[in-house]
Amino acid sequence: MNFLLTEEQEMIRKMVRDFAKKEVAPTAAERDEEERFDREIFDKMAELGLTGIPWPEEYGGIGADYMSYVIAVEELSRVCASTGVTLSAHTSLAGWPIFKFGTEEQKQVYLRALAEGTKIGAYGLTEPGSGSDAAAMKTTAVLDGDHYVLNGSKIFITNGGIADIYVVFAVTDPAARHKGVTAFIVDADTPGFSVGKKEHKLGIRSSPTTTILFEECRVPVANRLGAEGEGFKIAMMTLDGGRNGIAAQAVGIAQGALDASIDYVKERKQFGKSIGQMQGIAFKLADMATKIEASRLLTYQAAWRESEALSYGKESAMSKLLAGDTAMEVTVEAVQVFGGYGYTKEYPVERYMRDAKITQIYEGTNEIQRIVISKMLLAE
Ligand code: CAA
Repeated sequence: MNFLLTEEQEMIRKMVRDFAKKEVAPTAAERDEEERFDREIFDKMAELGLTGIPWPEEYGGIGADYMSYVIAVEELSRVCASTGVTLSAHTSLAGWPIFKFGTEEQKQVYLRALAEGTKIGAYGLTEPGSGSDAAAMKTTAVLDGDHYVLNGSKIFITNGGIADIYVVFAVTDPAARHKGVTAFIVDADTPGFSVGKKEHKLGIRSSPTTTILFEECRVPVANRLGAEGEGFKIAMMTLDGGRNGIAAQAVGIAQGALDASIDYVKERKQFGKSIGQMQGIAFKLADMATKIEASRLLTYQAAWRESEALSYGKESAMSKLLAGDTAMEVTVEAVQVFGGYGYTKEYPVERYMRDAKITQIYEGTNEIQRIVISKMLLAE
């Protein structure tokens, strides 16, 4: 057993850390305030190869492993959780199902564009009436000649409106419940596809979240992903990896809050000494760091298992559960360490605290993670 990163993983961490510090951090607070996505940042990530980390070079990726990918999401989220989730949804939720289930042509056209970062990807599963109960979706897809006609809507779509390629799930056989769900790749310029309401959120405010609508939207049969009826399985398997991307985001947020706290307690003086010398504060830092490290190890383990072609669904659900809860706890503590200043926008910890909350909610609430983990334990 070896806990050291490889040379390539270290190199990617350093590259992303430098990039995040130079190109992402300086505008993070302003983009949060303005709820503004910055395509230039995404384009620069593409130039560095970050938009296709785990995909083979033959599909436009850099052919690195899932560990390198989660390290990248972690480092970005350490300064800006919105940028972290843009990359995570793009890679895990749009790229992965195409890589795993796409035809050679779909990979050459869609995965390549995502990997090279000329296009942004998104994933459409959730609907107004089906969140945790994903199989209860109502969006329909009816075969008509060489097209499927999609009708319905999806909500809370990360990268909604900025994405060019959407992996979406619709019902082709309503009587079959989850066995009647089929996956599709939908181009944003398909007639009948449109972007609806943009959400105004507590956190990750520079990552756009929107509704997407399908009105007599004709998707070529060639854009069906996998077989008819295979969609629910594809959706679930996609989330198995996606959840570890969110765990990485949560680790990054928590680490960012700890970094800021350590800097602050060294400078801030009360009762004639820096507050870091007071045990009440120092112990908080120790607990924060310990929980972050445990979350990071679970996250890296799940990524490693995926790269080694071992099962990783349970480990991914565990990493998201622990890292999401840790991010929330650590960021609340960080605000406490900063006291009144922490509650203001003068320091970044209030943003980290707002950003952390979503990691306990999306890609399956942490209550759903417990269902996933316990079902797997009982099936073992
Ligand atoms: N891999 C492969 N197959 C799986 C699977 C997995 N991880 N999980 C379930 N399945 C299969 C089951 O084996 C079963 O197949 P069979 O019928 O052939 O036996 C089938 O799927 C149905 O499984 P369940 O009976 O367990 O399904 P369920 O309806 O009870 O739901 C659930 C299970 C875990 C609660 C699931 O609905 C779920 O994950 N819900 C949460 C949804 C979610 O995470 N949404 C996130 C939206 S995306 C997002 O948030 C993105 C973003 O913003 C960034």
